[in-house]
Amino acid sequence: MNGTLFQQILDPANRADPYPLYAEMRRTPVSRQDDGSYVVSTHAELYRLLHDPRISSEDLPDPPLFRWTGHPLSDLFVRPVRSRITARHRPFIFRDPPDHDLLRRQVMREFAPARVRAMRRKTEQLTHTLLDGLRDRTNLDLVDDFSYPLPVTVICELLGVPREDEPRFQGWATQLATALEPDRRTDRENAGRTEEAFTAISDYLRGLIKGKRRAPQDDLLSGLAAEHDGERMNDHDLVATAVLLLVAGHETTVNLITNGILTLLRFPEHLERLRREPEVAPRLIEELLRYEPPVHYRTRLARADIAIGGTTIPEGAPVVLLLASGSRDPMRFADPDRFVPDRANNQHFGFGGSLHYCVGAPLARIEAEVALVALAQRLQAPRLLADPPPYRPGASLRGPRHLLLAIDAVA
Ligand code: HEM
Repeated sequence: MNGTLFQQILDPANRADPYPLYAEMRRTPVSRQDDGSYVVSTHAELYRLLHDPRISSEDLPDPPLFRWTGHPLSDLFVRPVRSRITARHRPFIFRDPPDHDLLRRQVMREFAPARVRAMRRKTEQLTHTLLDGLRDRTNLDLVDDFSYPLPVTVICELLGVPREDEPRFQGWATQLATALEPDRRTDRENAGRTEEAFTAISDYLRGLIKGKRRAPQDDLLSGLAAEHDGERMNDHDLVATAVLLLVAGHETTVNLITNGILTLLRFPEHLERLRREPEVAPRLIEELLRYEPPVHYRTRLARADIAIGGTTIPEGAPVVLLLASGSRDPMRFADPDRFVPDRANNQHFGFGGSLHYCVGAPLARIEAEVALVALAQRLQAPRLLADPPPYRPGASLRGPRHLLLAIDAVA
């Protein structure tokens, strides 16, 4: 019965509103699937497993299992990286301690407060430039016209990709993003194009890194390429890390901005409040990360038998952490299906938790804040043209493919 339930969650027909299925799933906090994997759906059990060192992010099984579960990123990274470099050179989201911790520490150092503050100013400029370009419009697809281009441009700024290379970089990013949307009909043809984009972006980054080692600038890639206390990241890890930042920071942010506007248009009193009182943005965004998160689940592997939630996950079993369900668990959140931007003690799983907690969270929060406040203030009389909107097929990175709006103008 429960096996069927998770298949329903994966079914694109249920993408617009998976939350009633999550509520049913939570009746069995840790549920065995027919294929031998386990789905974890309650806040307490998710919290425990996120902090359990016996849960691994390495050596996740290859597709078909994870293709079916829509496991994002594994195709993109594990397969090409396994075949062409070695398993040791996977990006750190797919590595366990101690390698994970070393690489993550190096990246965290580059997300220093001063750099993140500078990114706020740049994000503001980029946001307003994008909106200025939409001045004559009375119809928008918020995804293609705004949410999609913004995060790639921000990541180019962060990494230090020169302006003139941005269009090429955008093209690769768009192609790589298709790997995050498992689609059985087109995967085979698309896989070739994705591998080409992966090779092209890796070659490009290797060249860029060479330049940054010779003549460092004030950007994240120069910082990572430099030596600190005798430590220096090798080229394989640098390329894998740069691609990880691009991929992990792109579609996720697109979905946070798009889900944000969709939710605010469904609850117009909160849109109006954000327009008048932009200082409410930080708490509103935390609630969005709980209520309509961009990342719905992540997968792991049990490294030992783990007794949890009245069952035992056997060693070697894949584990699906249904984070978005944990963030709607009534045992942890009062009135969990209500959007409450002032919610106190909002410990959602929008950025995961523990060891792999999102490195880009401070930047993502800034991007969402800047974008949502600017959209609330500059879109005149926005109306949804389709509700629910069409969704991307992926169940893990969940978000609208288009968000069609009618507006009176862009101020
Ligand atoms: C990890 C969500 C934006 C970089 C994660 C994880 C989540 C997440 C849930 C945990 C993955 C796991 O446990 O397996 C989000 C959301 C974002 C966002 C919702 C936007 C709204 C960004 C941005 C960047 C970024 C902008 C970088 C520029 C990363 C990296 C990791 C990660 C590098 C891996 C951390 C590790 O393995 O230690 N993110 N992310 N993310 N995120 Fe984000």
